Amino acid sequence: MLRWVSGLVHDDVQRLGENAMDRRERLIARARQGYRLAYGAEPSRFVAAPGRVNLIGEHVDYNDGYVLPCAIDRETIIAFGPPSKDAKSPRFEAVALDMGEMASARDDFDLIGKILSGENNWQNHVRGVVQALGRYGHRIKPMRIAVAGDVPIGVGLSSSAAFGVAVALAASEYSGLSLAPETLAKVAQIAKNDFVGCAGGIMDQMASAASVAGHALLLDCRSLEHLPIPIHRSLAISVIDTGLRRSPTESALGQRRAECEAAAAHFGVRALRDLDGARLREGYATLDQTLYQRARHVVSEIERVEPVATALARGQTAVLAEMMRAAHLSLAKDFDVSLPPIDRLAEQIADALGEAGGVRLTGAGFGGCLVAVSTHDATGAIVDAVASYNRSTADLPATAEIFRPISGAAPIILD
Ligand code: GLA
Repeated sequence: MLRWVSGLVHDDVQRLGENAMDRRERLIARARQGYRLAYGAEPSRFVAAPGRVNLIGEHVDYNDGYVLPCAIDRETIIAFGPPSKDAKSPRFEAVALDMGEMASARDDFDLIGKILSGENNWQNHVRGVVQALGRYGHRIKPMRIAVAGDVPIGVGLSSSAAFGVAVALAASEYSGLSLAPETLAKVAQIAKNDFVGCAGGIMDQMASAASVAGHALLLDCRSLEHLPIPIHRSLAISVIDTGLRRSPTESALGQRRAECEAAAAHFGVRALRDLDGARLREGYATLDQTLYQRARHVVSEIERVEPVATALARGQTAVLAEMMRAAHLSLAKDFDVSLPPIDRLAEQIADALGEAGGVRLTGAGFGGCLVAVSTHDATGAIVDAVASYNRSTADLPATAEIFRPISGAAPIILD
C-alpha cells in the first residue's frame, strides 16, 4: 500500500515561514528562562515535538488501518541539562511552564524507585514516559527538564502526544540513546494509555515523532511503516475549532473501540483493517446494526485514505471535497462521534468551498475541531463561513486558523 504514491514526492512543498520561526523562538526563550529560574543553571540543549491534525483515516488507527495525519506548527519544547550536583543521589527533575491547565508545578523523582501510576497530571505523564523507556530496556540518566508548549489543550490537536514524544526525545538525547521515531511514539503511547487512562491508537504519537515538513504522514498503523506525502503547494490546511469541548470522550471512545473489536470478532478477522466492503456486506443480515455501522465507517474510511493522499500530492481539490464530505457523513451517521452544531458548521464550510477543498470532523470527535484542506485562495471562504455560522448560533464561537505542516520531533539546533 505504501508504495503507490512514492513516485509523487517532489519539491513542491510548503516551507516554514517567518511567523512560524518567531513563534518557536518565543517558546525556546520561555523554556530557557523557566530552566534558569527553576534550576539556577543554563540548559545544555533543546528538543521539540509537534501536535497534529488528521486529514483522513479517523478512528482507524486502533483498527490497524491506514491514516494520514500531519504535524502542525504548534509544539512542546523541552530545555534540558544535567541533574543537580548538590543532591546525594541525582534525581530526574521537571518543571512545566506555560502549559495551560497543566502548568505551574515542579516534580522530581528517583529513577530507581517504583513510579506509581495515579492521577492524570503532567508529572505522571513525565514519569510514565521514563517508566515506559525502562520497560523497553533503555537506561535513562537522571536529568533536568523545563517544558513549554503551545499546542492547544483538549481540542483534539494531540497536545499530550507532543508532550509525551518530547519527553521521550529529551530523555533519549540526554542519555545518548538515538531512539527511532517508532520507539518514541510507542513509549509516549504507553505513557498516555497507562497514565491518562485512555486506550488510544498510535496515530498521534507517530505523527508527532515521524512527520516531515511540508508533508502529511501516510501511516500503516499495524506495521508502523510510514511514507511522507507531499502537500501540494496550492493547498492550505485550516483547522476550525468548533468551540465545543470534547466531553465524554474516554468512555465513548472505549465503547467505540469495543464495538470495532466485536465486529472484527464476528467476521473472524484480527482487526477491521482485514475486512473489505464485499465481506462486510455479506455480514449485513447476521451482524448487530450498530456494529455493522461502526465497521462500515472503518472499512469505508480506510478506502478513502489512498485517494486523499493522491489528491493531496496533486492538489486535486474536487476529490478532497468529495472524500472529506463522505468521511464526515460516515463519522456522523455510522460512527456517531459528531454533534449537530458540528454537522451544521461542516456543511456551511463545505458549501462555501464547493470544489475548492474539503472539510470534515478531525480527531476523536464529540466536539473539538474540523479540518479543511483547500486552495490558499479559498481560505477566505472558510473564514466567512465560520463568521456567518457564529452569527446564527448561540453556541461558543468557532474560530479558523491556518496551520503549517512542520517536521516531527527533533533536537533543536541553535546558531
Ligand atoms: C484520538 C486518539 C487517536 C485516534 C483518534 C481518532 O485522537 O488519540 O489514537 O484514535 O482519536 O482517529
